[in-house]
Amino acid sequence: MSFHNVSKEALWGTAALGAVFAAGLWIGKGKSQAFGSTTIFKSHSKGAKDNPLMKYVLDHSMREHPALKKLRLKTLEDRFSGMMVACEQSQLMANLAKLIKAKKALEIGVYTGYNALNIALTLPEDGRVVACDISEALPNMGRPFWKEAGVEHKIDLRIQPALKTLDDLLAAGEAESFDFAFIDADKQNYDHYYEKCLQLIRKGGIIAIDNVLWSGRVLNPEADDLDSQCIDKLNKKIYRDVRVNVSMLTVGDGLTLAFKL
Ligand SMILES: C[S@@+](CC[C@H](N)C(=O)[O-])C[C@H]1O[C@@H](n2cnc3c(N)ncnc32)[C@H](O)[C@@H]1O
Repeated sequence: MSFHNVSKEALWGTAALGAVFAAGLWIGKGKSQAFGSTTIFKSHSKGAKDNPLMKYVLDHSMREHPALKKLRLKTLEDRFSGMMVACEQSQLMANLAKLIKAKKALEIGVYTGYNALNIALTLPEDGRVVACDISEALPNMGRPFWKEAGVEHKIDLRIQPALKTLDDLLAAGEAESFDFAFIDADKQNYDHYYEKCLQLIRKGGIIAIDNVLWSGRVLNPEADDLDSQCIDKLNKKIYRDVRVNVSMLTVGDGLTLAFKL
């Protein structure tokens, strides 16, 4: 696929990601999780906690805003904390958003808002993260930390099915006006989210998709495992999609970055 139409920023980003990808593979070799030879690495997952190399990576790269760190530690007390984005992955996405000078972002699946907060911190004062979730209680756990970081006003929380919010944005004439999107909600709607994001994101913008390795289950999805099947199908579709350039990284539970052409 041609790079001719891609901005200089996106090209630099793609080059930087090569290094992240290589590091992910290398670290994965050190210790993989429960899925045979599958390399899954998320900083707050069980296996990673005691891994000296993962600790080294975090000790030598994480630069969390104090309120962001507090939110992560608070979220780790929650019984659903496994849903939280990996902090090193979120930092990568925040760096990318900054690189492309993002002003408008989409967060599809908020939970306590770790990533929404991280992205909001990179946006200019008049920037906005449209944050989609069906639960009000979960994001509200994070709200005090958004406030403490001084960016609560940049997080526009919409409590309703994310597809409805994306349709609302399109109906409001916001097509091609977003710079960055993170897809991290119900897996069976991933393809719909991807298509709507392609309409909402500008050329040179980035769509980041979480859990694309789904703890290794994409390798051989079971007949009754619809989530794995949907993720695998979308991975195969994006691989062939001429509307984007793509990188699939082994950070977290697998992260695809689609750069809109
Ligand atoms: C994996 S968590 C998101 C983690 C988050 N991105 C972070 O930074 O830690 C998934 C979230 O998606 C939400 N969700 C599930 N189905 C949804 C839907 N149809 N529309 C919007 N949000 C949904 C859940 O309530 C949950 O908070």
